[in-house]
Amino acid sequence: MVGSVLMQRMLEERDFELIEPVFFTTSNVGGQGPAIGKDTPALKDAYDINTLKGLDVILTCQGSDYTNEVFPKLREAGWDGYWIDAASGLRMQDDAIIVLDPVNRKVVDQGLDSGVKIYVGGNCTVSLMLMGLGGLFEAGLVEWMSAMTYQAASGSGAQNMRELLNQMGYLRDAVAGELADPASAILDIDRKVAAAQRSDEIPAEHFGVPLAGSLIPWIDSALPNGQSREEWKAQAETNKILGRFKNPIHIDGICVRVGAMRCHSQALTIKLNKDVPLTDIENLISQHNPWVKLVPNSREQTVQELTPTAVTGTLNIPVGRLRKLNMGSHYLGAFTVGDQLLWGAAEPLRRMLRILLE
Ligand code: HSE
Repeated sequence: MVGSVLMQRMLEERDFELIEPVFFTTSNVGGQGPAIGKDTPALKDAYDINTLKGLDVILTCQGSDYTNEVFPKLREAGWDGYWIDAASGLRMQDDAIIVLDPVNRKVVDQGLDSGVKIYVGGNCTVSLMLMGLGGLFEAGLVEWMSAMTYQAASGSGAQNMRELLNQMGYLRDAVAGELADPASAILDIDRKVAAAQRSDEIPAEHFGVPLAGSLIPWIDSALPNGQSREEWKAQAETNKILGRFKNPIHIDGICVRVGAMRCHSQALTIKLNKDVPLTDIENLISQHNPWVKLVPNSREQTVQELTPTAVTGTLNIPVGRLRKLNMGSHYLGAFTVGDQLLWGAAEPLRRMLRILLE
């Protein structure tokens, strides 16, 4: 799925005009390559180290299992090219840089100057948070942050998106008769929906439990300290992206899967290290990069512009609900939304390729 979104973006931005692409596959060797407006060789075997090692740059969205198997073999075979991927396998290594160039172009440039060859897209939630709040980090204003997330089904994969829709349909079908009858009692409908959610029949092969009409407050594996791995990434990756190896900014929260399709949302509590007027904060956030959009803290604009529905399929990163919290003038509340397949996955990778071509 990330690969398809990546292809779409590379076509839109005419990236293929600047390179001589060779396409690889894990399932369709010898098949026809994608239509990119120019001839390409037949699809090659993504495990063929000899062919791979003839490339200057390898850009893959295949995932950590592929990276963990192929990358060491390539290095063993003497390959010295640039590896760009979106997997967590190499992400935290000292010789890898997490790429999010609107936020950390300096770190990327320093990496290139010092010969770093591994460039990895960050966790989607972290990248989307930094695209939204990058201005505050750049100004050095964040003492700590709590991120409470509302993560879309796409973060679990294409099958999970289908399952979410099937669950929605299953629940709707369970009460179709009652919904058609305006006189039916809502508590009867609710009872039937709860029974349908709890039945063994609801499609839940991928999520394991119903997400439709519910939520799942755990994402990824468990760590010994009680965090989920997704929660752990917030602090670890943010500080690595920013190149902060000493004095890390503390970031923690609870990551929750909700029934959105492909936009992750986050409610943020930020402790500022000084009392900065809200207008200055708004300026810092809105001027940080061309994609972040400040949404005025009004009900009407929030419900229209600060939602997965408004953002899905776009590169926009709205940030809203900005206000000082009751706890004091150093405490800021914010809410942000972003498409996890675009800035959260595909976009930083194709932009890294462009940086290599500069
Ligand atoms: N781990 C993310 C999620 C997706 O489950 O939503 C990719 O970073």
